[in-house]
Amino acid sequence: MSEKAFYVTTPIYYVNDVPHIGHAYTTIAADVLARYHRLRGDRVLFVTGTDEHGQKIQRTAEQQGITAQQLADRTVTNFRELWKTLGISNDDFIRTTENRHEEVVRHIFRQLSAQGDIYKGTYEGWYCVPCESYVPEAQIAEDRTCPDCGRPLEWMTEESYFFRSSRYARPLLEYYEEHPGAIRPRGRYNEIVSFLRQGLKDQSVSRTTLDWGIPVPDDEKHVVYVWFDALINYLSACGYPRDEEKVRTFWPAVTHLVGKDITRFHCIIWPSMLLALGLEPPSLVFAHGWWTVEGRKMSKSLGNVVDPFEMVELYGRDAFRYFLLREVTFGLDGDFSEEALVQRINADLANDLGNLLNRSLQMLEKFCDGTLPAPGPCNDLDRELQALAGDTVAAVDEAMQRCGFDEALRSIWTLVRRGNKYIDETMPWKLGREQERERLATVLNSLCQVLRTTAILIAPFLPDTAKSMWEQLGLPGTPDETGLADSPWGGMPEGTRVHKGGVLFPRIDMKEWSERKLERDMKKGKPVDPGDHEETIAIDDFARVELRVAVITAAEPVKGADKLFRITADLGYEERTIVSGIREHFTAEELIGKKIVVVCNLKPAKLRGVTSNGMLCAAETPDGKGLSLLTVDSDITLGSRVH
Ligand code: MSP
Repeated sequence: MSEKAFYVTTPIYYVNDVPHIGHAYTTIAADVLARYHRLRGDRVLFVTGTDEHGQKIQRTAEQQGITAQQLADRTVTNFRELWKTLGISNDDFIRTTENRHEEVVRHIFRQLSAQGDIYKGTYEGWYCVPCESYVPEAQIAEDRTCPDCGRPLEWMTEESYFFRSSRYARPLLEYYEEHPGAIRPRGRYNEIVSFLRQGLKDQSVSRTTLDWGIPVPDDEKHVVYVWFDALINYLSACGYPRDEEKVRTFWPAVTHLVGKDITRFHCIIWPSMLLALGLEPPSLVFAHGWWTVEGRKMSKSLGNVVDPFEMVELYGRDAFRYFLLREVTFGLDGDFSEEALVQRINADLANDLGNLLNRSLQMLEKFCDGTLPAPGPCNDLDRELQALAGDTVAAVDEAMQRCGFDEALRSIWTLVRRGNKYIDETMPWKLGREQERERLATVLNSLCQVLRTTAILIAPFLPDTAKSMWEQLGLPGTPDETGLADSPWGGMPEGTRVHKGGVLFPRIDMKEWSERKLERDMKKGKPVDPGDHEETIAIDDFARVELRVAVITAAEPVKGADKLFRITADLGYEERTIVSGIREHFTAEELIGKKIVVVCNLKPAKLRGVTSNGMLCAAETPDGKGLSLLTVDSDITLGSRVH
């Protein structure tokens, strides 16, 4: 493995929102790549940060009654905190309001103007404020809403500076034809190439409609368009233009990880800007897919936004990191569910990985006083395991060069499972009992070599787990310091004293977990999982249920029954006595005066000696703890029929 420079970035995140699983996903992926390349011995620069200018931020700040800078300062701490919580190892954190960045933006703006690549003109068109972009006519439907976010577009006319992207369509196309690996996955590459074939319109790069941005040099009526500003962060974070050594090292050795929604900015506008500056386009832009949550789009209104802080608190950061990268192929859309996460914890982490460590160390302690014996002669089974460990290192390296996180993890787990099977096949407990010391020594030694290699390979993904395995194996330093070059078989020397510690991942009891999950969901007001639905009925079937509006005029406890109320419901044309089991949820005072919906044609039934003549309707949470009466939204006449 040869040393090389590796620069990896995440999108810089807008500061108008709290961090969610989407942000966590890209940043974890970038962290794993950065850690992996460090492990390989590469010179790594890993940068994330925040995108703090623009209309979206200005408007959110106005709504909150604070300045945009205050909003940015507040939100940036959430991001920083989250990266700490997730164990993110970024080398730098860049904010677009920092002087070091603003200077570079001004420098680039001046340079491109001086060389005629930026000029002044007029812009008009349909603009989406939340997306901060003009939408081309061809993409606008009759209702004039944004094709990306669905919100209404606004017509805008403004004097604007333009970047001459049109000039770079051809050179960029040629670049991509020569570098088909520069955009991944392949589908995105094809999309970008066919888009470029139609040529490019010049790109508006300034705004006069807001002031929260970097003023255009020598024309302060304008501020630099937020995307032009934001993309430049990738250069300012690597020292452009002053730190020539750093730029030479890390440019264009850069991998931009982005969500699929922002591919065009990264694969068209950004590389055109770079070409104009005389720089090479990025080595790789990898566009990942989007997460839905339990089959639905993630949204605040559905109350299903996944909070990464909560996931870490509940399941630990390593499990969360593992799940995100193992569950879905990077580049494809995926569905997040806590249940799937828990199942992976139990199967892959507790059962496969945890067991391998536990069983191996247990036997080492039992039969060898916790000290690794020198291996005896090897047979085919041992050699096969050793070969698999070597192949795994190679397979992981190959997959990681392509951001194939799930494949890399699958390869590692093939080795882990093989390790467990090797235990079953060699039966070291039997060898120990029968005093077959030499064979036992080979088996336990092999297992420890597998564990050591595994700890190194999982270190980028599960850094805490790798460290804990390392300590339990009694190895010096850390897996990160050891690196991949040192991962081959035999790296754990005989005589090493192991220190068996606690279990890596305790198994989660599914039944208990579902109960607690239900409670959490209800506290958050999350919609109920409907479970099995009733069979379909015809409208006539429903019409047979006579529902009418009534008002509660009295509610008395039923003697000898804690849960029952004897309710008097006035239907206007008659009064009914209804016995209802809602006493745990309401006091009589709360009930009296409520306009409710009553089933009037239910067969009377006797409850604790009182005849109940009808039933009131209420919504109940699945655990029966929450109850809400069905009422009417206006003062409608009593007795009115509900259809
Ligand atoms: N500020 C711009 C990026 C500028 S980069 C020069 C931006 N910021 S953002 O905060 O809106 O978003 C960031 C990232 O989150 C995008 O890459 C987007 O794809 C990602 N995601 C937002 N929701 C997501 C999911 N539900 N799933 C996965 N990623 C998602 O865009």
